[in-house]
Amino acid sequence: MVVCETIADLRAARANLPAPVGFVPTMGYLHAGHMALVHRAKQENAATVVSIFVNPIQFDRAEDLARYPRDLPRDMRLLEEAGVDLVFIPSVEEMYPAGFRTVVHVREITEVLEGKHRPGHFDGVTTVVTKLLNIVQPDRAYFGQKDAQQAIVVKQLVADLNIPVEIREVATVREPDGLALSSRNVLLSPAGRAVAPTLYRALRAAQTAWQGGERDADRLRAIAREELAQEPRIEVEYVSLADLETLQELEGEVRRGLLSLAAWIDGVRLIDNVRLESIQDTT
Ligand code: PAJ
Repeated sequence: MVVCETIADLRAARANLPAPVGFVPTMGYLHAGHMALVHRAKQENAATVVSIFVNPIQFDRAEDLARYPRDLPRDMRLLEEAGVDLVFIPSVEEMYPAGFRTVVHVREITEVLEGKHRPGHFDGVTTVVTKLLNIVQPDRAYFGQKDAQQAIVVKQLVADLNIPVEIREVATVREPDGLALSSRNVLLSPAGRAVAPTLYRALRAAQTAWQGGERDADRLRAIAREELAQEPRIEVEYVSLADLETLQELEGEVRRGLLSLAAWIDGVRLIDNVRLESIQDTT
């Protein structure tokens, strides 16, 4: 496994990789969710590149950046064991040298959901993802459905800017009790961890109702909220049922949609989502 800290070294090592190249951008502190992306990339490509970069410009709160968990030696072991070919671990100065002035901004679909509650977040994501795609020049890049809006925004960015890469999405990996794996889960207290599966339970309650024939958007959002309200430790930020393409809130009858939520538990912000769509719609 080749490890590169500079863009020049990465480009030189990249030139020797066989095609097609699969790429998994991450912020490290890797868990089984990240590794599902890595395994998919390994399966579907001749070579796999992973980046680990805690991107400061996508954090809307300084304390969130400061306490973002890191364990580079462990990450390196996991990637080595998975058979990754190339790891890119640039410094902040390497990615954003003095005089850096460009922002990549995707309109409208970044102004709702996560974008509405985390000002500037998506500009940070789209700027760093554009840079990483330009640096690594992969044939395919892998993103998790855990961050559903991020995957949608990245697809839009790649289409609009004609970046020659195919974006592939990977299903959310969960703990046995349903909690979506997240680097932030380690920040939960034992009591917070105990109630955290309620987030997925709330989404599932609404999804089950939808599968059972409930089609009213307000009612479906209310079903999720009612489940969340059972746990006083959970402070809901939003519950959304939105169009899968435009991410605008749905009203009235729902044929398909993205049901998502953000909530605080013990000062830790967690997000999760499920899709409401019939099997025919996904194929
Ligand atoms: P990070 O939070 O480290 O996540 C890296 C990738 O792993 C993302 O595509 C995310 O959706 C995916 N992922 C996280 N948890 C997952 C889970 N439980 N199941 C499946 N996939 C999961 O997302 C970022 O980093 C950054 O915004 C980044 C794209 C690297 C840009 O800085």
